[in-house]
Amino acid sequence: MICTDLSIALAPILARYDKDQVVVVYDENISLPTGVAGLTSHSIYGLTVSETSKSLETVSLIWDFLFEHGITRRGLLIAVGGGVLTDLCGFAAATYKRGIDYVNIPTTLLSMVDASTGGKTGINYHGLKNSIGLFAPPVATLIWPSWLKTLPPKQFLSGFAEMLKTGLIADQRPTTNDQRLFDRLLQYDLDTMDSDALTPLIADCIAVKEQIVTADPHEEGIRKTLNFGHTFGHALEELSHAQGSPLDHGFAVLYGLIAELYLSVVKLSCPKEPLQQLTQVMLHYYGKPQCKCSDRDKLIAFMQQDKKNEHATDINCTLLREVGEPLINQLITPQEAAEALDYLFSL
Ligand SMILES: NC(=O)c1ccc[n+]([C@@H]2O[C@H](COP(=O)([O-])OP(=O)(O)OC[C@H]3O[C@@H](n4cnc5c(N)ncnc54)[C@H](O)[C@@H]3O)[C@@H](O)[C@H]2O)c1
Repeated sequence: MICTDLSIALAPILARYDKDQVVVVYDENISLPTGVAGLTSHSIYGLTVSETSKSLETVSLIWDFLFEHGITRRGLLIAVGGGVLTDLCGFAAATYKRGIDYVNIPTTLLSMVDASTGGKTGINYHGLKNSIGLFAPPVATLIWPSWLKTLPPKQFLSGFAEMLKTGLIADQRPTTNDQRLFDRLLQYDLDTMDSDALTPLIADCIAVKEQIVTADPHEEGIRKTLNFGHTFGHALEELSHAQGSPLDHGFAVLYGLIAELYLSVVKLSCPKEPLQQLTQVMLHYYGKPQCKCSDRDKLIAFMQQDKKNEHATDINCTLLREVGEPLINQLITPQEAAEALDYLFSL
C-alpha cells in the first residue's frame, strides 16, 4: 500500500497488537522519521546490513532481540530497510516460534517494487545467494516514497531496472493510465529521480507483481515471468562478485534484460524497438557492462548451474514474444547464449 503518512498507515495495524509485543528492526544507514510514533515508540534494533551480512548470524541477532523482548507468537516485527533487511527480517519472523507477523516498510526502490512483495524471504548460505529461505508474506507492506529522497543514484537506478523489467512483462492492458507501463517508464525523467513523479509507476509495478504472485505464489508457472532478465543477470552478478568488483543487482538485471531481449528478437521475432530503447537507457544512465568476451564461458557455466535451470547443458530462460507477452521455459543453447553475450559486450 502506498502511503503519504506512515503514522496513519501504521495505526490500524498496530491496533491489532499489544504495545509491548511490537518491535522494530531497521537499517542503521537510514534515519527513522521522528514524527512516526509507530516506529520510534517501540523497542528498536538498528542493524548494519549488507549482502555479506545476509546470513544466519544476523538472523540469530534478530531472534535474540525478539527473545530479549519477550515476543510471543502474537507479536509483530516491523522491518524498515532495503531488500537485504526485509529478506532477513521476514526469514527471522517466519521461523521465530514457528512464525510471527511482520510488516515490511521498504526504503529502497528495489525493495519497494520487488523484494517486499511476493512473500519470498531468505538468506545467503555458503556463498549461495538466497539458498535458504521460505515463502512467508508480510501482513502488510507500506510504501512511503519519501524514503527515496535520500537514496544514492546508483540504488535508484538499480530499482528502476526492475521496474523496466516489470514494464516489459506486464500485460498490454494499461493499468492506471491509457499508455503501456513500459512506455510510461521510458518517459520518466531519470535525470530528476523525482519520487513524486515516480509514485504512480511504483504503484503500477507493485500491482503487476501482486497479480502475478497471487496467481502463482510458489513459482510453478507464470511467476517465472518475473525472472525475465535474471538468467543472464544473475550470471553477470555472480561473476562480478567472484572477480571482486560486485555489480549492483539492478545493473546486472538491466544487462540481462538486453541479452534476453536480443534472444527474444532472434528466436521469437520480438520487435527490435524495446531492445533499442533499453540499449539507449543503458548507454545513457547505466554504462556498459565491464565484462570481457573472455568471460563468456564462465558466464555460460554460471547459467548452466543456476538453481532455476533443470537442464544439463541448455539454459532455461524467460523470453518475450513482444512487450507484455513473456514466454517461460525457453531453452537456450550455449551457442545462443554466447551470441547474446557477444551482442551485449559489443554495445
Ligand atoms: N524477496 C524478494 O522477492 C527479493 C526480490 C529482489 C531482491 N531481493 C533481495 O534484495 C536485496 C537487495 O535489496 P536492495 O537493493 O534494497 O539492497 P540493500 O538492502 O542492501 O540496500 C542498498 C543500500 O541502500 C541503503 N539504503 C536503504 N534505504 C536507504 C534510503 N532510504 N536512503 C539511503 N540509503 C538507503 C542500504 O543501507 C544499503 O547500503 C538482495 O539481497 C536481494 O536478494 C529480494
